Amino acid sequence: MNTRITRMLGIQHPIVQAGMSWASSSAALPAAVSNAGGLGVLAAGPMYLSQFQSTLTELRQATDRPYAVNIPLYRPEADLILDAMFEARVPVVIASQGGPKAHLPRFREIGAKWIQVVSTLEHAKKAEAAGVDALVVVGGEAGGHPPANEVSTLVTVRRVLQEVAIPVIAGGGVADGFGIAALLALGADAVQLGTRFLLTTEATVHANYKDAVLRADVADTALVGRRSLPIRGLRNAFAEAIFEAERRNAPRDEYEALFKKSTLRQAALEGDVAWGKVEAGQSAGLVQSIRPAAEVMQSLVDELAQAMARMQGMTA
Ligand SMILES: Cc1cc2nc3c(=O)[nH]c(=O)nc-3n(C[C@H](O)[C@H](O)[C@H](O)COP(=O)(O)O)c2cc1C
Repeated sequence: MNTRITRMLGIQHPIVQAGMSWASSSAALPAAVSNAGGLGVLAAGPMYLSQFQSTLTELRQATDRPYAVNIPLYRPEADLILDAMFEARVPVVIASQGGPKAHLPRFREIGAKWIQVVSTLEHAKKAEAAGVDALVVVGGEAGGHPPANEVSTLVTVRRVLQEVAIPVIAGGGVADGFGIAALLALGADAVQLGTRFLLTTEATVHANYKDAVLRADVADTALVGRRSLPIRGLRNAFAEAIFEAERRNAPRDEYEALFKKSTLRQAALEGDVAWGKVEAGQSAGLVQSIRPAAEVMQSLVDELAQAMARMQGMTA
């Protein structure tokens, strides 16, 4: 396919595997997606510098196709990771949770593309004004950090496209090629999928995590932590404890402590899917199997072609 994003990044399909802490923090998943013609994304979020450097080397040995590194800019070690990304001449940076301005000039120098993750029009406009090359725009259905205002992907993405001229990679709630077609029809230049790629053999999370997400239906996730930095995850014991604290209007300190005590690491690494943060999107309910990422890519491409043919048939 030929879109502004496939041309900009040199990829075959307008399909991006979303950066997911732990799940895509090793080489296997991004390498498989990039080798299948999509954009694989290594999530640097939970990694220390030395671990990041060795994993990046592994990824570069496993694929000669374009790939990206996702870096949450708020993390304490972000500058060190960015230095390593610069030195390694990473071709695509996908930055979240922080301003891009300070970092853009030197990544420009090495010809890297800088893509900023946003979930509101306000942040989309700011990122465009700062000079980023493209946006990832996610809406309310998304796993991880959807917009706190809970506006859906359909509306969030369309609103951003009304006001922003740079290319948009849209996501949140998409798990098959039909969803990809829908967001391309809306005006996006590529689509990013997280939860779908979480349920692959290559994703590096505990088996309990994959099983719990696989069992979930479309209404089994919730926005958890409305009074903090909310996440979308499974409605487990941790989520219920947070809802209970919200109902009784628990003091701020107590609420924050409860929210921070539970971590993604606890669920993803240790397999505690009751009390950990099991980040996943509503599209968990659209996925019925854990499969190799290359097979998932093939299905996405086939379904996208079916969806496009169906729509072309409507005009015949
Ligand atoms: C387990 C998990 C971990 C995530 N970690 C990150 C992360 O480290 N950085 C980031 O920018 N987004 C992260 N996200 C959000 C995804 O990049 C993506 O926006 C989201 O999964 C898209 O929605 P979907 O799950 O409905 O496809 C995470 C999502 C999940 C499900």
